[in-house]
Amino acid sequence: MEGVFSMIVWTVVVAVMLYVIQLPLRRKAHPRIRTAVFVIKMLLIPATALLFVAVDWPAAYLHGDILTAIYIALCGDVVSSIVEYAVRRIRETVKHTEKSHICLLGLCGVLAALCTAGVFIGGWADASSISRTDLDITSDRAAKAHTFAFVSDIHGGDAHPVDIIRDLCRQMNEQSPEFVILGGDITDEMTSYEEMTEVYRILSELEAPVYFVYGNHDRQPGAQRVGGRTYTDEELKSAIEGAGFTILKDDYVQIDEDLVLLGREDVSRGEERSRYADLTCPYEGMLIVADHQPYDEEQLAEEVSTLQISGHSHAGQLFPLQAVYRILGLPAYGSFRYAGTQLYVSSGAGLWGTPIRTEERCEWVLVTIRPE
Ligand SMILES: [Fe+2]
Repeated sequence: MEGVFSMIVWTVVVAVMLYVIQLPLRRKAHPRIRTAVFVIKMLLIPATALLFVAVDWPAAYLHGDILTAIYIALCGDVVSSIVEYAVRRIRETVKHTEKSHICLLGLCGVLAALCTAGVFIGGWADASSISRTDLDITSDRAAKAHTFAFVSDIHGGDAHPVDIIRDLCRQMNEQSPEFVILGGDITDEMTSYEEMTEVYRILSELEAPVYFVYGNHDRQPGAQRVGGRTYTDEELKSAIEGAGFTILKDDYVQIDEDLVLLGREDVSRGEERSRYADLTCPYEGMLIVADHQPYDEEQLAEEVSTLQISGHSHAGQLFPLQAVYRILGLPAYGSFRYAGTQLYVSSGAGLWGTPIRTEERCEWVLVTIRPE
């Protein structure tokens, strides 16, 4: 709650600063300068979001509240500037006085405050619950129907309070999936040892068999930026296995006669991860690949009917990063088709660095496979 309070304070400070800095522009009509400032603010929104989410630098870990405040205040300011522009156009068509000009300045301030509060509350609401997404697929290699659950990117402990994880378990248990895949980044560099053990204690309430694959944050590779690791690889492994989960690192497991699961080591581990071509499936049946990051092109080029399910992207998390990923040709969210592989990229159940989401919702995925 302390982090949220600090974020609210910083958002107010940045929003007021933005308003005051632009006051001279609003007092006198400088249409070209106003347009240039508007364009700069528009560009600063994705730049701030990228600095926050996509660049691995210490400030993203340590000053998430300030970066989030800048991002939210800019979003609120840009929306209010659009409304202000419309009001100015209407005003040009009617007679106006000095008094009405002061009213316009006041209106701009109120608009900026309302829009900033709207972005904050909307982003907070989207981040504060985890909802179910249904994914139905068919396969000629499945002999009967199967249902399983997938959840990734909980980032438990820092951005997501444990009550939400408890509710996630309840939702999953209600659907009685045959098995559950934890798709990586369940905890991260900001998770304390106590929070990590608590997260797995709560997840152990899942009633179905659980298979776990590592993400790029679970083993805290960026911990030196935030004062060091809070738990060792061994402590993490023992918490995961203590919860009764099976860790898969380039391992196959036969789920049923017609269903095989391959859990991949994360690509961030370099040579610890096997090349897909070097793996040989010892079982028959439809193949499900659980891989935290959705970027292995060799694997996605698989010719036989395969489902790959991934997370990692958070669907961008902060607008407009999903569009940036798409422009770069990276799968950010939803279903994609590659040769014989159907890829589903989940938006993830949690958040990175800030309790704000302005792209998609936090989700877990209920997958139903039907025979073709
Ligand atoms: Fe990740």
